[in-house]
Amino acid sequence: MINAPKDIVPLDEILPEEPLLMMGAGPVPIPASVAQANSIVVNHLGDTMAQVIEQVKDMSHYVFQTNSKHILGVAGPGSAAMEMAIVNLVTPGDTVLSICNGFFSNRLAEMAERNEANVIRYQTPTNQFAPAHEVEALLNKHVPKVLTIVQGETSNTVFNRDLPRITRLASERGCLVIVDAVCTLSTTRLDMEEWGIDAVITGGQKGLSSIPGVSLIAFSERGWQTIRNRKDTLRHWCFDAQLADQFWYKKSYHYTAPVSGILAIHEALRLICNETLPGRINRHEKNSHALQSAIEGMGLELLVAPESRLQSVVGICVPEGVEANAVLAHMSQRFKVEISGSFGLPIVRIGQMGEQSRAHHLFRVVHALGSSMKLHGAKIDLPGGMAALEQALEDFSPQAEIAEFPRRAAAR
Ligand SMILES: Cc1ncc(COP(=O)(O)O)c(C=O)c1O
Repeated sequence: MINAPKDIVPLDEILPEEPLLMMGAGPVPIPASVAQANSIVVNHLGDTMAQVIEQVKDMSHYVFQTNSKHILGVAGPGSAAMEMAIVNLVTPGDTVLSICNGFFSNRLAEMAERNEANVIRYQTPTNQFAPAHEVEALLNKHVPKVLTIVQGETSNTVFNRDLPRITRLASERGCLVIVDAVCTLSTTRLDMEEWGIDAVITGGQKGLSSIPGVSLIAFSERGWQTIRNRKDTLRHWCFDAQLADQFWYKKSYHYTAPVSGILAIHEALRLICNETLPGRINRHEKNSHALQSAIEGMGLELLVAPESRLQSVVGICVPEGVEANAVLAHMSQRFKVEISGSFGLPIVRIGQMGEQSRAHHLFRVVHALGSSMKLHGAKIDLPGGMAALEQALEDFSPQAEIAEFPRRAAAR
């Protein structure tokens, strides 16, 4: 017999007394009402859950900007939703064009390769968005069946600003488009239907400000028809969209759904609908710009040039001679603020997704970063950074274009 371990420490002794303010690249803090929803268990096939699922789909129509009848949840991280999009839309032998700006867009390419597709990777210039004309030339040359792209590349904080043009170019050529919007959905404009996207992937723990481990995916009608017309049997059982449809549209059993996580995502979506997309996108724009001004105001550099810069996660160059891990550790211990390191780049990253994007959090994270960088040898003008933050928050004026968005939702 194997004995129970004797040295297990209860969670209240492991977790810090004062919770850390999670200002990294995710998971992000969640509102109290989302945490409350996540503490409830209901019957996964009962009437209560059926009503919750209907509402999750209704609210997703707004948040994804689509009338799709193929919105599915998946018990798993954002990567599970990525895999679900790939294995359902890519048949072994298909040609896939993968726009690769960094770590996560390369992951989509790798998933397609593992699914035995013929993958053409377009590696964009370092820390830059993929220009539509370059992608157009590749679409013409390779005639792919599927194009994969990330809207916001969290790993190096690059934003694919040409996404609407790229998705239209692909769509006009009959190429299916898969978009990873894990960090951007509801923080940045994305219009699934108008832009002609066939699968939008999101995770719970970033833009939506819900818990990690339950993700959403929306398929277009064209994408769904591709799935319906497949002749082969999918090798993945859990990720089979037609099996998931049993639960999400037919009140029937696929696997035991992560009910608490779905309740959490319901509440997260409800908060987004209440705030409205224009209101939420403007909040993120305002706070992210203010954060960027503060960082530059204290004398640090941002990794990505403004035209390619993501708002949802901000990449900050670590000055020569400064040890990034020591800065991060000091921020956690002294200020109880956590931010992220990176995937091999000499940067640290601050998230601006959902609950992270609040002015009062900015004052705390900017002060903690500046003070910790200074202690570890960087030349920092901390008062200058704090003043720039305050000024930028005061000076912000919302973009007229965002105020008009979303047209479809308003027209419904
Ligand atoms: C843009 C992007 N895509 C996909 C993922 C993968 O999500 P997960 O870690 O939940 O699997 C992440 C996670 O950081 C991400 O930022």
